[in-house]
Amino acid sequence: MAASRKRTILITGCSKGGAGHALALEFAAQGMRVFATARSTNSLSPLEEKGIEALALDVTSPESIASLKTEIAKRTGGQLDMLYNNAGSMYEMPAIEADADRTRAMFNTNVFGLFDMVSAFTPLLLASVSDSGHPPTIINVSSIVSRVPYAFSAQYNASKAAVASYSDTLRIELAPLGIKVVTLYMGQVSTGLTGPDNIEFGSQSLYDVVEQGVKERSRHHLQHSMKSEEFARQVVNEVLPNSGLPNSFTWKGMIMGLLKREHGFGFKSTNGGRATSFVHAETFTGLLSFVMHEDFIAKRIGQRANLLKRYSEFNADFEGWVESTWESDAAAA
Ligand SMILES: NC(=O)c1ccc[n+]([C@@H]2O[C@H](COP(=O)([O-])OP(=O)(O)OC[C@H]3O[C@@H](n4cnc5c(N)ncnc54)[C@H](OP(=O)(O)O)[C@@H]3O)[C@@H](O)[C@H]2O)c1
Repeated sequence: MAASRKRTILITGCSKGGAGHALALEFAAQGMRVFATARSTNSLSPLEEKGIEALALDVTSPESIASLKTEIAKRTGGQLDMLYNNAGSMYEMPAIEADADRTRAMFNTNVFGLFDMVSAFTPLLLASVSDSGHPPTIINVSSIVSRVPYAFSAQYNASKAAVASYSDTLRIELAPLGIKVVTLYMGQVSTGLTGPDNIEFGSQSLYDVVEQGVKERSRHHLQHSMKSEEFARQVVNEVLPNSGLPNSFTWKGMIMGLLKREHGFGFKSTNGGRATSFVHAETFTGLLSFVMHEDFIAKRIGQRANLLKRYSEFNADFEGWVESTWESDAAAA
């Protein structure tokens, strides 16, 4: 084994201001050789100044993936230690009104692009299996919204649930080959992923009266979420353990801390106290009532009492679902 070889990591979606950018800096600060990629390399120059290698990548383009693979293989002698699938986009719209083309474009990035990256780079990870003191690792970025029904972004939530489900199976298939798979359930981090200016339900929307509330939610997200530098520090600490293996599941980002601190429960801990699951029904209710306010119900449905009754029944079901989710996550951890 080449003891002095720097461990290598390829990170997708490293544009300035995003989580990928902060992660590239943090992994480099921890001594890794970082390949930071973005669709446009213009915003990667601050990374290059720190010795990070910047390369172009559009995860929806097979040609772009193939040319990146050739270049990285050339630079590393055909090896890679970590693949961090961070690139993603978010589209917020009522589920029944989402534009099909925009939804497909989002899935091409969040889901199919990620699949293609894993398929393309697994041979380079396999080439590191015997050469590294640590197992080669794939980190796939899912989201807490893959488990929490965050209203008015159903299609995005579904794309992140697809990543989580895919990773669960990938983990089993790659384990015998010596490759570790980590699912990152990311909480809220202040980046350019979402912003009020990107939200436009349109005047014909059934939900027009709540559009401002969703924009406000986005504004609040930007202002009050965890900073990307802090998020990167926490993630790197978790996935680069000094000894042993990284966990298969990690939960990082703001909602985790908020739930723990403000509600005092909602976490079930295994693995020596690491949080492996969280959901809290009151938080979910609060989130929905933020946008599902009474004006909306009165205006659109005209059967307010009936709807509220159905809504409270739904919450009771939701609490049952939370319990079973805890059990299955605890068993999987
Ligand atoms: N921020 C949060 O609260 C949060 C919560 C849960 C999960 N996440 C996930 O975290 C990841 C990072 O997002 P972020 O919050 O840092 O947002 P961000 O600042 O918008 O970063 C997203 C990155 O993905 C890149 N990207 C988009 N489409 C791409 C494509 N086709 N090919 C290659 N790169 C592409 C973007 O590049 P361009 O600059 O070219 O668009 C950007 O660099 C995403 O997967 C997101 O879903 C974020």
